[in-house]
Amino acid sequence: MGESSLKAINPVLDIEKIRSDFPVLNRKIHDSPLVYLDTAASAQRPLKVIETVVDFYRNYNANIHRGVHTLSQEATAAYEQSREKIARFINAPSSQEVVFTRGTTESINLVAHSFLRPKLQPGDEILISWMEHHSNIVPWQLLCEETGAVLKVIPMNQHGELEMAALEEMLTERVKLLGIVHVSNALGTINPVEDICTLAGRLGVPVLVDGAQAMPHQSVDVQTLGCDFYCFSGHKMYGPTGIGALWGRSRHLHSMKPYQGGGEMIRHVTFEKSEFNEAPAKFEAGTPNIAGAIGMGAAVDYLRDIGMENVAAYEAGLLAYGTERLAKIDGFRMVGTATKKAGVMSFVLADIHANDVGTLVDLHGVAIRTGHHCAMPVVQFYGLPATARASLGIYNTFSDIDILADALEKVTGMFA
Ligand code: ALA
Repeated sequence: MGESSLKAINPVLDIEKIRSDFPVLNRKIHDSPLVYLDTAASAQRPLKVIETVVDFYRNYNANIHRGVHTLSQEATAAYEQSREKIARFINAPSSQEVVFTRGTTESINLVAHSFLRPKLQPGDEILISWMEHHSNIVPWQLLCEETGAVLKVIPMNQHGELEMAALEEMLTERVKLLGIVHVSNALGTINPVEDICTLAGRLGVPVLVDGAQAMPHQSVDVQTLGCDFYCFSGHKMYGPTGIGALWGRSRHLHSMKPYQGGGEMIRHVTFEKSEFNEAPAKFEAGTPNIAGAIGMGAAVDYLRDIGMENVAAYEAGLLAYGTERLAKIDGFRMVGTATKKAGVMSFVLADIHANDVGTLVDLHGVAIRTGHHCAMPVVQFYGLPATARASLGIYNTFSDIDILADALEKVTGMFA
């Protein structure tokens, strides 16, 4: 497959135009053009996002929800419009169900603290999968230590696919929450979240979905998925760092206690007692990341303009090509071969340490991630110390894959 057949698959996607939206792609690294294959760690930002953030600081920087003056009104309107854009993007029934957080990690911790903690009794269970990112493991471990609840792990097979039969068996009334990653950052597996929510729903088990790696690759509809909470980060979806969101069903958000105390999350304060605001304000104590939230709205606009179906189709073509091309390299082994995958290629190269691979391909301008990808149980499952990981974004091309493959061939040559 080549670039021409890619355009045939997806005639509406203008890759050169998209690439020109990302100024960082003009950089040279060690005299070679940058080939950025680390979008799963953090995506690059298009000019639209950069300029939106700059415009806020240059022209209407002010605190929100606190001022009658023009700048504050403008900043408040832009912040709330961003919430609405995000709500529409994930088909949330209401923008009031979208809480701004620092990112996926904070969204999960918020649910752990405010939703689950008050419900847990010793012996209750929290169910997660083997392929979770640390952010969907550690908050639950901390809760288990505090409450005597038990963390249970759904196994996966060698391809990196969930064992659905085991999941069904493990879903009992003892389970008080099921936390599942939508797209694995370490393997690329796309989990059958809709089916999982149907199974959990039969027993009334709430489902939290870590959507950090799904949001940049495919359209997400929280109502179709049927989950209770959906967590994601701005910087994985071409927006700013330090901002993200939690979507939660309004009945949950309504009954949850605040996460942090401070300004904006209250309605009335006396020294004897405070009354709290309704969600989402109840969970947004203190001055939030206003520029980040507005920038995240711009990232949503950017992705909507391209169309998430187009993004998914384009990246599926790249992934198929990459999987085929890289397999031809001596000693290459893909880690994570699920039938349903998004743009992540984790691999090992003969017995060369992943960090060496990453350092050596960087000399050719190629940026990949190496290590455990904040998902240590995944590399432990495969008995590996680490993997190298090339992850795709909307700006990558077939030529990027070829450059990576050539660089990897040079690395194997060095160790031959
Ligand atoms: N979770 C991020 C990654 O996958 C940092 O690289």
